[in-house]
Amino acid sequence: MTAPESTATSNTSYQSLDYKRLGEAVTEALSGVDAAVVDSQEVPQLIKKLSQAVEPAMIEIRRFLHAHPEPSLKEVETARTITHQLEALGIPYYMPYENSVVATIKGTAPGAYDSQSHPRKRLLMRADIDALPVQEETGAPYASQTPGIMHACGHDCHAAMLLGAAAILSRIAPVLCGEVRLVFQPAEENSTGASMMVKAGVCDGVDGAYGCHIWSEVPAGKVSLEAGPRMANADWWRIDIKGKSAHGALPHRGADAILAGAAIIEELQTIVSRSVSPFEPAVVTVGQFHGGTARNVVAGSAWLEGTVRTFDPEIHARMPLLMKRVAEETAAALGCEATVSQYDLGSWAVVNDAHASQIAARAAEAVLGKDAIARYRGSIPGEDFSEYLFEVPGVFVFLGCANPAKGPVHPQHSCFYNPDETVLKNGVALEAAYAWEFLGEGLAH
Ligand code: NI
Repeated sequence: MTAPESTATSNTSYQSLDYKRLGEAVTEALSGVDAAVVDSQEVPQLIKKLSQAVEPAMIEIRRFLHAHPEPSLKEVETARTITHQLEALGIPYYMPYENSVVATIKGTAPGAYDSQSHPRKRLLMRADIDALPVQEETGAPYASQTPGIMHACGHDCHAAMLLGAAAILSRIAPVLCGEVRLVFQPAEENSTGASMMVKAGVCDGVDGAYGCHIWSEVPAGKVSLEAGPRMANADWWRIDIKGKSAHGALPHRGADAILAGAAIIEELQTIVSRSVSPFEPAVVTVGQFHGGTARNVVAGSAWLEGTVRTFDPEIHARMPLLMKRVAEETAAALGCEATVSQYDLGSWAVVNDAHASQIAARAAEAVLGKDAIARYRGSIPGEDFSEYLFEVPGVFVFLGCANPAKGPVHPQHSCFYNPDETVLKNGVALEAAYAWEFLGEGLAH
């Protein structure tokens, strides 16, 4: 692949990161405070204070990662940066793969571990860390220094926030009644990273999972954490069409694969309008249509590729059959043959557990205030956080970053995507508060 010409390579700042800064910020904010004797009523206030204290260092980490993005499965330097920061914080970690990191924070509250050293509860907190093949056009001083690669989905923010939360949680360990497992996951964008991490055993012994996405469809200052389906099943498919080529002036001697393809594209839309309940959201999109060899030849072959998005498991399961029926029968009516040659179940729907969603609401209310909880219908793009939710109940939170007052709000995956960084302190406060609430649930606090 030829790298596109860059407009951002002149950016030579953000060459290094001061790893001491994050820990020092927490230490300074904690001076004179003994976390072991903090009253539980005051923990949310303390978390809020620490979130504000880590904000500048966290933004620096985010900008450094933003300047040095790596695409899915190539996040080696990103993982290295994360390990350097964890080392500076004195937090133990291991690397299941060279592009991923798993760290552990052990609470030291009374009863946090039993006599066999098993934690009372264990929470998995995940941040994805990969970037996208997008040429950045933001013009930001911390813009990508790698041509054609950009953190256009905000995973740089996720990694920085989880490091911020690590800094806070490791220093308030005396109020944590259990263990936090921090998972820095590669390859979310190609839907392979979460399953890699699950295979590596990160869900073993875990009681709950927490994930978060900074989100441009939710206003800055708000969070959305409703129970139920939050992100869709995302499937990928390909249809190959076989016709019979002939002279373009004598179409009756052949079978036109392009005409069959066009008919299939139209008929595929009837799946949503006629085979799926109007109460259930579903999308069938054709993203590619290729066929033919010359302008005066009836096309002997063609192919289509696209994606299907659904929320309901039953509709999700029916989709491959509905696609097959439409493709085969429509093509047959035009004397061609169509085959659904590929149907990949990409990532499953992200469905928030009702109880975990309540804990998140309590945590959000405690550190961000009741007004910060927004109502948001959820989103159709897929997310492989669903892989963890297959294993353990949990919650996926949308952290609002839309702030029109600061400039245009560009959507995720846009080359102009540049979220309002001031929301990172909200995200880190919620992460820390969720961990504290989750581990302490059932205790008197
Ligand atoms: Ni993303």
